[in-house]
Amino acid sequence: MTNFSGVVILTGASGGIGRATAVALAELGFTLALVGRSVAELTITLEQVQAIGGQAQLFVQDLTEYARLGALVERIHTELGAITGLVNSAGMVQVQPLEQMAIGDWERLMALNLTAVFALTQQVIPRLRANGGGVIVNLASIAGLRTFPGWGAYCATKFGLVALGRTLAEELRADQIRVCTLCPGAVATPLWDTVAGDFNRAKMLDPQTVAQVVVQAFTLPAHAVLEEVILMPAGGAL
Ligand SMILES: NC(=O)c1ccc[n+]([C@@H]2O[C@H](COP(=O)([O-])OP(=O)(O)OC[C@H]3O[C@@H](n4cnc5c(N)ncnc54)[C@H](OP(=O)(O)O)[C@@H]3O)[C@@H](O)[C@H]2O)c1
Repeated sequence: MTNFSGVVILTGASGGIGRATAVALAELGFTLALVGRSVAELTITLEQVQAIGGQAQLFVQDLTEYARLGALVERIHTELGAITGLVNSAGMVQVQPLEQMAIGDWERLMALNLTAVFALTQQVIPRLRANGGGVIVNLASIAGLRTFPGWGAYCATKFGLVALGRTLAEELRADQIRVCTLCPGAVATPLWDTVAGDFNRAKMLDPQTVAQVVVQAFTLPAHAVLEEVILMPAGGAL
């Protein structure tokens, strides 16, 4: 355990990348606010954090309930203390040709992958500024930089997230808030359970490797920022 302190809000904490990130950041000494909807899955993450002597607390919240996000951040601040970081890892995928995708499904993807990140980040920025700076990491994707047939709606959300991250990095630079847009290729997590097809998960990145990059974003010296990272499986998977 090393000497970092402060509270990091982690969305998607019940998911594959979020869980690995929770453990990695807790190992550094950060206190984690674990955000998600599934109490059972969040509890597994909490237990893994506690098993290494880390500090964390669950905050059950559907992130598409935008109007509740201000109260969520307020509660995290009151119950855990000064907020020093935000990792936006919640996300979902639906693979379908654009011609066939229902507008409600398009909107569902946009709501979670893009609008919720915007809405939550907006609530967190003043807390980071009040604390003299901080780190924001957005889990975008290689699908935020390249397009793939069938992945149009997902790509649109992730291209949007890349634009959001780049703009925030410019807007917040003077406030010592470092914004990192992380674009991994395929990562072996439960996200792929929702995608039809035969994918070789052994060729994908593992979530712990993605978490190592998040750790870099938090641990680089304050004068350096990891603004955009493409992290690909070396063996030729997506
Ligand atoms: N896996 C990959 O290949 C890959 C590659 C590049 C980028 N990414 C991105 O990395 C991020 C994490 O992906 P992952 O692979 O860890 O996915 P995952 O294992 O499927 O986890 C998804 C997370 O999103 C949360 N979530 C879903 N809907 C939510 C809602 N309405 N409100 C709050 N939380 C919600 C889930 O929590 P609850 O169900 O508990 O709410 C879960 O924690 C995503 O943004 C994904 O797009 C993934």
